[in-house]
Amino acid sequence: MTQDALTGWDDETTAEAYAAFTRAFPMYSASSRDLAARARLTDSHVIVDLCGGTGATAEAILALAPPDARVISLDNAPAMQRIGRRTLDDPRLSWVTARAEELAEHTPAGGVDAVVCNSAIWKTNVPSVFAAVRRVLRPGGRFVFNVGGGFAGVTHPAAQARPASASLGSLIEQIAVRDYGAPPAPPSGVPQLPLTAVASYLAAAGLTLAEADVTAQHTTMAERRAWLSIPVFARPEGGFSYEQQMSILQEAYAQTRPDHVTITSWLVVVAQLDGLQA
Ligand SMILES: C[S@@+](CC[C@H](N)C(=O)[O-])C[C@H]1O[C@@H](n2cnc3c(N)ncnc32)[C@H](O)[C@@H]1O
Repeated sequence: MTQDALTGWDDETTAEAYAAFTRAFPMYSASSRDLAARARLTDSHVIVDLCGGTGATAEAILALAPPDARVISLDNAPAMQRIGRRTLDDPRLSWVTARAEELAEHTPAGGVDAVVCNSAIWKTNVPSVFAAVRRVLRPGGRFVFNVGGGFAGVTHPAAQARPASASLGSLIEQIAVRDYGAPPAPPSGVPQLPLTAVASYLAAAGLTLAEADVTAQHTTMAERRAWLSIPVFARPEGGFSYEQQMSILQEAYAQTRPDHVTITSWLVVVAQLDGLQA
């Protein structure tokens, strides 16, 4: 499990860098808009932005939610939410600092119409979170989330069709091994959250799998570099200072073309609580 899966979010420097990244580059706003659209929010009254961070996903939800809807952005990192509270001004939005696993303790008694979770579900205790979502969702309500391609073990056909070129991550690893004596990274193991696991956790929680898509996100090397400069995502992990990580990143980046486009794959899942249609 990578470092960012567990720690590192409740940190001012990471929070500021993450928020700046979401404003400068499309990665999180685009994936948030995709998930919000799949949640079919037109008639929703209460919507949860689960693991909402600095509010990129809340913003996408608010753009599609009815004028009288209520949006609850829940995240367990106060530093991330401080930026959201400061920058997002919408009377429909409220912020709850709590773990996703404790969702049911922070939602109205009447339940919620939709839960949207962008770029975070694999960082949580997935069976507990699915059970919590099942407890709060109204019949017909939708639970929409995505899983990073590496964690889900999926690759979009467009990425497979491309000629292989070194990723910034692999260049960083090569430099760390060659110049810093770092041990080579172990071969990537079994995916942490493949669709089969998602499906069985959903079934165990009493939720129905309605849709599962593999999507492709086009990203320039410049965007990858900016992403890898966010402290929580900086590489290599273990024993490297941030300054060393940034110096390795700069050297790796110099070996690429800034406008070279890479494809990032995502597994996108829509689950539903059977009952009346939302
Ligand atoms: C990559 S950010 C995504 C934020 C937002 N959804 C977006 O698209 O910009 C991941 C967020 O998940 C939050 N997070 C991770 N594990 C969590 C948990 N168990 N409960 C609540 N929040 C969690 C982190 O604090 C962080 O803000």
